[in-house]
Amino acid sequence: MKIEILPSLLAADYGRLAEEILRAQDAGADALHIDIMDPSFVPNLSFGPDIVALCRKVAPGFYRHVHLMMRRPDLYAARFVECGAQTLQVHIEADCDLHDTLKMISSLGAKPALVLNPETPVERIFPYLDEAKEVLVMTVHPGKGGQSFIREVLPKLEILRRMRPEMDLMVDGGINDNTGKESIAAGANQLVAGSWLFGAGDMKSKIARLRS
Ligand code: DX5
Ligand code: ZN
Repeated sequence: MKIEILPSLLAADYGRLAEEILRAQDAGADALHIDIMDPSFVPNLSFGPDIVALCRKVAPGFYRHVHLMMRRPDLYAARFVECGAQTLQVHIEADCDLHDTLKMISSLGAKPALVLNPETPVERIFPYLDEAKEVLVMTVHPGKGGQSFIREVLPKLEILRRMRPEMDLMVDGGINDNTGKESIAAGANQLVAGSWLFGAGDMKSKIARLRS
């Protein structure tokens, strides 16, 4: 399966956001990961739809994955698609009808995806596997960047990969060259990395390292 690398904008230098978006694109990333935080769902706030629109304006051809850490993603999905979200990732722990929400995201013309928090059993996702186009297995507790990788979630990837050999399976949180390798071995093919990719050093060579 093709390995895809997605830098997380959360770790970018906000004083130079446009340059940082272009830096990620020029470094050979496959898509941009944009973290939207609602403080009733995670203990933090981050970006809103206008930042998604900014990403589209700065780099129209750079694919936009939008991670909705929101209690009611159903109320905001249309607005995010309007602003340029191409994949919308919705948490299974959200407070809405997920079958309806995934259907709505598809009908808006975006790709629907589901996200599992570290403490959520993998079985919770089984009833939605035919509707979600990809699954994100969180490898940290969502809410901030720079946390340590939670290795205990790797068996979820193994189970999902066995069930869906062709499905896109993503990891997000604490990813670097070592934890990226472990995640791929467990079945992931899409890696989100924030602080490691935007941190010191050449992003292009780090992306190449993750890919290999
Ligand atoms: C965590 C976010 C992640 C975060 C990852 O709530 O969903 O996307 O940016 O950051 P790192 O790679 O620094 O753990
Ligand atoms: Zn994320």
